[in-house]
Amino acid sequence: MSEQKINVNQNILQMEYAVRGPIPQRAAKLKDAGKDIIFCNIGNPQALGQTPITYYRQVISLLEDPAKIARERQLKNLFEENPYSNLHESDFVDEDVLALSEKILAKTGKGLGAYTESKGYRFVRQAVADFINRRDGFAPESGLMADSEAIFLTDGASDAAKRVLNLVISKKTDGVMIPIPQYPLYSASIKAFGGTQVNYYPDEENDWALSREALESAYNAATAQGTDVKLIVVINPGNPTGAILDEQSIHEVIAFAKTHGLAIIADEVYQENVYGGEFISFAKALGDEKDVPLFSLHSISKGFYGECGHRGGYLEVRNPPMVAGTEMNFVDLLLKQASVSLCANTVGQIMTYLMVSPPDEANTAQKQFLAEKEKVLGDLYEKANMVRAAFAQMDGVEVFGKTGAMYLFPRLNKLPAGKTDFDYCMALLEETGLCTVNGSGFGQAEGTHHLRIAFLPSREQLEDVLPKWIAFHNRYVNG
Ligand SMILES: Cc1ncc(COP(=O)(O)O)c(C=O)c1O
Repeated sequence: MSEQKINVNQNILQMEYAVRGPIPQRAAKLKDAGKDIIFCNIGNPQALGQTPITYYRQVISLLEDPAKIARERQLKNLFEENPYSNLHESDFVDEDVLALSEKILAKTGKGLGAYTESKGYRFVRQAVADFINRRDGFAPESGLMADSEAIFLTDGASDAAKRVLNLVISKKTDGVMIPIPQYPLYSASIKAFGGTQVNYYPDEENDWALSREALESAYNAATAQGTDVKLIVVINPGNPTGAILDEQSIHEVIAFAKTHGLAIIADEVYQENVYGGEFISFAKALGDEKDVPLFSLHSISKGFYGECGHRGGYLEVRNPPMVAGTEMNFVDLLLKQASVSLCANTVGQIMTYLMVSPPDEANTAQKQFLAEKEKVLGDLYEKANMVRAAFAQMDGVEVFGKTGAMYLFPRLNKLPAGKTDFDYCMALLEETGLCTVNGSGFGQAEGTHHLRIAFLPSREQLEDVLPKWIAFHNRYVNG
């Protein structure tokens, strides 16, 4: 190590990200020392054994190695000529998947190794627009159709959120409203870009619904201190709460944003994780409201795909505002910003394409695809219910909201005097090997204590660890 000292950006030095904070760091140390650890601190499904969707992986591997397409066909011919071999029809990639891969390859031009347009492959952006139109029922004559030129393909939703925050925060007093509790990408990025975090508080006991009063009171308190509030972030379904926002809450946010001239970031990365509940997109709720700029985010990391490591997602802009002092609108400036990084990674872009254009009934791969999708989502819901059932046996633990996303955020009503939720999570880790995140890492209403658990481990792991957790809890809180 060099003795030289460098002054660095204090904002980066000061930012915090609890999801990979002291508790997960301690968990990693314990694991290195040979202890069995269950990492429930992060929504990283494949790290906990979730199987990737076959269809996605087949397409991606064929695109990375296009010679495999012809080889698959040759092998299948050989098999058909030698029906007595040990192979079966299902050992080969479906012809529909091969044909689709050829189609995608042709659209990419020279394959995945070349830079794309700064906004991302045009055909993928069009597929994203078609997906939004299908999802939200936007018909051609409605005037609401998504515009592929206002869609940016990004290296995950984190990248998309940071792009918008980086552009909007121009000075220290620029405020961004975020829900408390929140996913720390937002607090950390606001810090990194030098703006002001403005907390607003969803109503926990009312299933984390949003009220106009709560929004106004946060806004008024911030403006009274000289903060120029510019943006409001909404995470639906929520992280860390897992709560699914009801229609009225969404409309309250839109009306509130309109009144105060704010733009909205709608982080909708968990839109597939609603387990029978209803997801309503901000784009749909916004309808023909033209005065509220909306930045909607989606990602390949969550849902039933869980392709976190492939880093893909998109940002859709509706009603882009003009950039003060220029003739540019926000989409123009986002393009300028995107061009500096050249493009999002191509595998993530293709994963995003596959996410927004699932196989239809004419595609022979559809049956397996749907079976895998239902299995993943069904398992997640079942595991969430197992964890909920364990809470019912823990003294003073309550959990609110419908089940969504990949998390439960129970409130710990009873802790020994002087102990915090951080202490609790650390002790839980040391005793049971279960790695959760303390509620204070996401922010929480003063005087309350929580933790977040991602309900991603296998059923067997949960069956083993939940009784240990119940025993730990009841002993810990009762001194
Ligand atoms: C609410 C929310 N937004 C964004 C992200 C980041 O997603 P990505 O992997 O697409 O960057 C996460 C990851 O956990 C998240 O929970």
